[in-house]
Amino acid sequence: MKIAILGAGNVGAALARAWTRSNHEVVFGVREPSSAKTLAALKPLGTSARAASLADAVRGADVVVLATPWDATQAALAAAGSLVGKVVVDCTNPLKSDLSGLAVGHTSSGGELVAGWAPGASVFKAFNQTGAENMAAATRFAAAPVMFVCGDDEAKKPVVLQLARDAGFEAVDAGKLQIARLLEPLAMLWIHLAYPMKHGRDFAFALVRPVRG
Ligand SMILES: NC(=O)c1ccc[n+]([C@@H]2O[C@H](COP(=O)([O-])OP(=O)(O)OC[C@H]3O[C@@H](n4cnc5c(N)ncnc54)[C@H](OP(=O)(O)O)[C@@H]3O)[C@@H](O)[C@H]2O)c1
Repeated sequence: MKIAILGAGNVGAALARAWTRSNHEVVFGVREPSSAKTLAALKPLGTSARAASLADAVRGADVVVLATPWDATQAALAAAGSLVGKVVVDCTNPLKSDLSGLAVGHTSSGGELVAGWAPGASVFKAFNQTGAENMAAATRFAAAPVMFVCGDDEAKKPVVLQLARDAGFEAVDAGKLQIARLLEPLAMLWIHLAYPMKHGRDFAFALVRPVRG
């Protein structure tokens, strides 16, 4: 699958590592394709990844992944151009600038705002609920960490669920895009446990079920 990842930071680089390992083709859509940061993200990926402008990256992609800071997401989408017919996976969290909480919630979500900024695209929320390092190396846990996926396009949802599996997660369909209103606070819980509660970043959420005899 041809995947454009908008942003080559922590999340973009981590997902690129996971997906190139699963033989997907990755192109980072970035403002500066030859910046030191972009080249550092490309270095471990070999020949299955490259970098381009946001619009060039999106043009040939089946799936477009948003891995930008929340405040930059609308501008990045505008620079990317038309997303009509694309699967868009929104990994962002609409964090307040001081990281104290979510700037959007309860009656809307970042995912739903993204859908409004990407008319004609099939928007899904996923890869926002755990730390970037877990996205690069999900298989190092004793149980597969969970990745909830929500979105309204039921026909295209299996594509995103499979990308979560390809990255080593237990992929769980959480419902319609509106469920981003729950998945974004779940990310806040992960951040709260990691930092104020001092668990550190080396943990992930998993879904466990009783043993059936
Ligand atoms: N870090 C995590 O563990 C984690 C986990 C789950 C979800 N998230 C969410 O994922 C998103 C990305 O987080 P991150 O930690 O990967 O951020 P990051 O390391 O700061 O990377 C952000 C990327 O976005 C690019 N960018 C910034 N402004 C842009 C613009 N106007 N147009 C296009 N590209 C732009 C940056 O490029 P430049 O180098 O050009 O600035 C950089 O490549 C955030 O919304 C965050 O809340 C993060």
